[in-house]
Amino acid sequence: MNWIKQEGKIFWPSEDMKKKAWVSDESYYEEGKDPEKFWAKRAEELDWKEKWTKIYEQGKDPGEFKWFLGGKINASHNALDRHLKDKGDKVALMWVPEVPGEGVKLTYRQLHEKVSRFAGSLKKLGVQKGDRVSIYLPMIPEVIISMLACARIGAIHSVCFSAFSGESLKDRIVDAEAKILITADGYYRKGKPINLKESADIGAEGTNLQNVIVVQHTKTKVNFNKKDIWFHDLLEQGNPTEPEFVESNEPLFILYTSGTTGKPKGVIHDTGGYLTQAYWTTKLDFDLHDEDIFWCTADVGWVTGHTYGCYGPLSLGATLFMFEGAPNYPDEGRWWEEIEKNKITVFYTAPTAIRMFMKFGDEWPKKHNLESLRILGTVGEPINEEAWMWYLNVIGGGRCPVIDTWWQTETGGTLINSLPGIGPFIPTVAGRCFPGTHLMIVDESGSEVEKGRTGYLVQKPPFAPGMLRGVWKNPKKYFESYWKRFPGLYDSSDGAMIREDGTIRLTGRVDDVMKVAGHRLSTAELENAIDEHPLVREAAIVPKPHDIKGEVPVAFIILKDPSKGNEDLKKDIVKHVDKTIGPTARPSEIYFVDDVPKTRSGKIMRRILRGLVKGDKNLGNITTLMNPEVVEKLKEIVH
Ligand code: WTA
Repeated sequence: MNWIKQEGKIFWPSEDMKKKAWVSDESYYEEGKDPEKFWAKRAEELDWKEKWTKIYEQGKDPGEFKWFLGGKINASHNALDRHLKDKGDKVALMWVPEVPGEGVKLTYRQLHEKVSRFAGSLKKLGVQKGDRVSIYLPMIPEVIISMLACARIGAIHSVCFSAFSGESLKDRIVDAEAKILITADGYYRKGKPINLKESADIGAEGTNLQNVIVVQHTKTKVNFNKKDIWFHDLLEQGNPTEPEFVESNEPLFILYTSGTTGKPKGVIHDTGGYLTQAYWTTKLDFDLHDEDIFWCTADVGWVTGHTYGCYGPLSLGATLFMFEGAPNYPDEGRWWEEIEKNKITVFYTAPTAIRMFMKFGDEWPKKHNLESLRILGTVGEPINEEAWMWYLNVIGGGRCPVIDTWWQTETGGTLINSLPGIGPFIPTVAGRCFPGTHLMIVDESGSEVEKGRTGYLVQKPPFAPGMLRGVWKNPKKYFESYWKRFPGLYDSSDGAMIREDGTIRLTGRVDDVMKVAGHRLSTAELENAIDEHPLVREAAIVPKPHDIKGEVPVAFIILKDPSKGNEDLKKDIVKHVDKTIGPTARPSEIYFVDDVPKTRSGKIMRRILRGLVKGDKNLGNITTLMNPEVVEKLKEIVH
């Protein structure tokens, strides 16, 4: 079936797509012009124990807003219990391990049983509503069970990406004051078991964790400490537990993300507003129907894994596909093999993965029948035209729309994209604002700019229901990061432009946040990590464009003793980064330098370093530097 038609360089939904899609006319956008009414009507498709008494309330501060006040809701009830009557025997979760072997298929009834039992065990361990539970798990069913079990009893989960280091985990455990950590013995990467418990032990040491719950997955021999309990024992012993309904604005989870400062911040998401946006964006962006099988490749350690790898699809009663391992193991065709085998209909991934597979070559996807696919999605960074076209033609067989979704950890769900039944689908253009939300482009002074001009992407109130509600234990940071620069507006820190047709093109971050292979990383965080190395005096990090990963970090390092700068030290610094943040933050190049360009007040001029690594001929004005002479020297070193 052909789901799109082409008109010049623009693609539109075909008649078949329009017929099938939940939305194929302007009605939702029209309705969305009254956001409160729009979202209130949408929220009714979720199950509420008690209905809200007020739809939206804007406090004095722009960041103080609430949705569905007084409403009582539970995310695990919405993701599981309410489907039992009609969809109890429908597969909720299809999981495929990396190493050849049996996967797991859990029906809604089976998943419900596990979640409610595990929730019972957590309760018995003393976990109460509002307590924090850290989760440090790979892509295995237990991560979904753990998240939903927390949600079931009103505990707040804080998932830490399993490729982050033990020290990163510790920062998050300590900041969240977590009571429990849920982790695993290990996971598989390219066929090899990786010992996760070792890192978990580093993370747990010296914290106030009461217990560490360990999933036995790889059966690797691990240290078992006094506080440790096996996950399978708890699952077996747990008494099925009913969901605890919470006021809509109470937190569902915290997710740490990188900003412009050295420490990640704990973004707080509420329950009812978040779930409403997760549910509706999953339903409309991916036009998800009952028979669809949805694969979101994002790791659950990132927000995409939360919203589209757990809460969105499950609250819709959809079938979710989950894959444990590396995309190219045992060979470069693994993802396409899984799509064929499992008849995936909707596939959501990142530009960096698309570019990687492009490089592997067309022969890999061509070996497989990908005709089950109906919709393709992308997220995480701007997608270049070549990758977009390759995705459309080679993966989608020229038949499936490519839905480029723009959003952030902070927004909880997508905010800019085209809808499958409406279009248009244009390479390098994300689309329109999701119905019921309002973004605009402003200049430095906060005034809206004309169409066609690039500026800062901001959001106008009423703010979307899925938006963050705070930064954990840090209201000041919340205010300063998002609400200060443009009074009354949400500052996304992204650049963008609205085109003549009203669709939006994103141009990338305007702050010191990088997207490395789709992973969000702050230059300050990486600088801090490198600064901690005993031989380093100071480090400056800038992103360098990369044809697969989008961007990679490049490090300029001033050593305490310049004569010590050699290849071994570079390796040691990389090891140090692995230990403090994790391998995803590894600098791709390290330059040992005598000095870096600085302003007269001593601030590193990253703009100049950025230009240098990009190979820009014109580095802009350098006369305001304290040390302009350093620029010529750096040019020699870099080129
Ligand atoms: C970038 C990921 C262009 C953007 C869901 C944003 C994108 C940051 C897109 C958030 C897109 C995400 N086109 N850029 N479709 N999607 N971004 O918090 O810079 O990991 O601010 O959330 O990714 O990254 P985060």
